[in-house]
Amino acid sequence: MKNIDSFPGGYHPDYDPPVRGDNITAERYFSKEWMQKEWDHLWTKIWHVGGHISDVEEPGDWVRHNIMNESVIMIRQEDGSIKAFYNACQHRGNRLVFSDIGGGETITCSYHGWKWGKDGVLKQAQNAEDVVGGNPCGKLKLVELQCEIWAGFIWYNMDPEAKPLLEWLDPLPEMLAGYQMETQTRTLYLTTEAPCNWKVIRDNFNESYHLPTLHPELATFVEDDYKNTHFQSYQSGHNVMVMKGHQPSTREIPQEFCEPPLDVVLEYWGLDPKDFEKRPADARIAIQKAKRETGAEKGYTFFETLNDAQLTDYYHCTLWPNFTLTLSADGFQVLRSEPHPTDPEKCIFDHWFFNPEVEGRDVVETPCGPKPFEDAEHETIVYGEKSLGFVADQDLSVGSSQQQGLHSRGYTGGVLTGQEKRIQRFHELLNDAVGVGPT
Ligand code: FES
Ligand SMILES: [Fe+2]
Repeated sequence: MKNIDSFPGGYHPDYDPPVRGDNITAERYFSKEWMQKEWDHLWTKIWHVGGHISDVEEPGDWVRHNIMNESVIMIRQEDGSIKAFYNACQHRGNRLVFSDIGGGETITCSYHGWKWGKDGVLKQAQNAEDVVGGNPCGKLKLVELQCEIWAGFIWYNMDPEAKPLLEWLDPLPEMLAGYQMETQTRTLYLTTEAPCNWKVIRDNFNESYHLPTLHPELATFVEDDYKNTHFQSYQSGHNVMVMKGHQPSTREIPQEFCEPPLDVVLEYWGLDPKDFEKRPADARIAIQKAKRETGAEKGYTFFETLNDAQLTDYYHCTLWPNFTLTLSADGFQVLRSEPHPTDPEKCIFDHWFFNPEVEGRDVVETPCGPKPFEDAEHETIVYGEKSLGFVADQDLSVGSSQQQGLHSRGYTGGVLTGQEKRIQRFHELLNDAVGVGPT
């Protein structure tokens, strides 16, 4: 295990790469030239999450993912594997599918009716004998992309030269294995079009400096003092922030009592909140012990594979460049921002939540309140019309105002705090990826 055993308590220089101090130039947030550079050098080179294994349970089931103007279909095969193909008919390029999910023996093109098998091979064509070069059935194939599975997600990459997925994800698969993400159920499945560039949201998830101001409610349950928060950045571009949970913040005057919801959680685990008066920060270790001792009998059998810190804390992992996982013992969140197809001042924002199975529990807590423990339908929300969860709403609320400020001649590249180093690193990696070099 590559120094992960010293994590989250320790410091390792390999996981704190130096930054150059590049200027975080404004045009990257709104210029079409930047958007094109990102398409040419970033989106066409990285591993994308195209769907979830629960979207494609039977052979022939498919899930579609659109990224800017590209579209990819991932299809479950007879042998259980999943293959990815560009969503473009090999006859004259017509897009083949137009919904998130679907299934069947073949995919039929709506233009001239060519039928494509689940393996991407052409099965049937009108007047096949008339096709120039001979009958293409059984020979012609949709263009295939690299496709792999990790953590229950279906990943694809448009770059045939890309590293294998697990190598690209290093060291996260080993670090996060205990959560058994692949066994969890997506109970929240929301998407919206947000009024800011995708990187405005990335910057937000690459720092916790905004917690006291934007999410003050969290201080009763999460240690949001950066001095007690662990940050690591990896060569791969991914990074992790671990925040202690199940204890109040010690940022200012330490709290004297366990306030809601911490008191409720203590009681659930058989502990008396009064015992933690004057020492509420001790609640975290007490809850870890109680979960370890009584978790299995309460139906939380999956606790066995989590370490003590994972029983109470939040592992906030931002995968390069745009996919964030926030993991806890109660479930995990996906927070993804992707570029809008044409407008650099907008983005596509996904908020998903996954819950582990707990024996006898058919209603679970999600960032949008209680939900049935079952696969959620995909819901596309018109931004502002409905909540995306109160913490996500708070984060997105500054998206449009920051987008406006970044246009000002008064924005000169910003001044960061030390705890925002991951933002600096993100932009330097981006500068290198799109080929502009240090700015
Ligand atoms: S474009 Fe698909 S069948 Fe003609
Ligand atoms: Fe936030």
